Amino acid sequence: MPERTPYIAANWKMHLTRAPAVQLARDVVAQLADVTGAEVVLCPPATALDAVGRVLAGTRVLLGAQTMHWEDHGAYTGEISAPMLVDLGCRAVILGHSERRSYFGERDEEVGRKTRSAVVHDLLPIVCVGESLAEREAGSTLRVVQVQTERALEGVSRELAPGIVVAYEPLWAIGTGKVATTEQAQEVHAFIRGLLSNLHGETVAQRMRILYGGSMKPANAPDLLGQKDIDGGLIGGASLESRSRVTNTAPPFEPRDVSTSALDRALMSYPASAAYAWGRRKRPTRCPGTPPAARQRPAAGGSRAT
Ligand code: PGA
Repeated sequence: MPERTPYIAANWKMHLTRAPAVQLARDVVAQLADVTGAEVVLCPPATALDAVGRVLAGTRVLLGAQTMHWEDHGAYTGEISAPMLVDLGCRAVILGHSERRSYFGERDEEVGRKTRSAVVHDLLPIVCVGESLAEREAGSTLRVVQVQTERALEGVSRELAPGIVVAYEPLWAIGTGKVATTEQAQEVHAFIRGLLSNLHGETVAQRMRILYGGSMKPANAPDLLGQKDIDGGLIGGASLESRSRVTNTAPPFEPRDVSTSALDRALMSYPASAAYAWGRRKRPTRCPGTPPAARQRPAAGGSRAT
């Protein structure tokens, strides 16, 4: 069974025009130059995809988009399709983010269509699922996550499923500074892996990566990423900070429980680099009984940064 390569996605949302986006991308590339053992994808706004893509070309850092349409082309004013994103050099796309669901009415069925289109075009979909505070308080977290996950993955073949990443993002933790406890997050992640196993079998489920998202930053990333079923992060607000920005202000992040070499401290200035620390601390997850020689490259969209 292959190990699961940690995956860190930076969601810049509707922030940054081209010049600051290019600057931040350059900072990230420089900071992560020595980082191996993790895949990092930057997802700038659509207007900066081309410019940021030029910075990332030939580096280990991947380019991703924040949404797309499920059709390849057509009369869909304002939309962007998978082939268009591929043409810009995108390797991944965030789908079904809760902000798209709540502000733009995106439904599970559309998320499923988009997911199928992305995998067909060799774009790695980062499929977001998660419950609201009211749903958590009503005890329906697992049910909500189950429906969202199953609908998003509907119709995806077992062969293509490992090319999908699921991101568990409790809505109450997004942009609020409130982070799920490691126990809360691990419980839902293990549940999602069980769903993936029911859908595609245990071997495929063990290959698929499940990210946590919601107020993740260097201070809490190592604990979250240390959980058995948490394979990376989808990071919003904190991913807009880079070492150069941070050192110009009071450092907001206190790295802890990680190696304290100067390199580590520098790397921890960008949240994506938490994967670096994690990669060094945690043994890769393998299915019992499978020799390391059976390791495979990560599925579609994920191999360049390893
Ligand atoms: P946050 O956003 O890290 O700012 O909470 C995460 C997300 O919306 O993907």
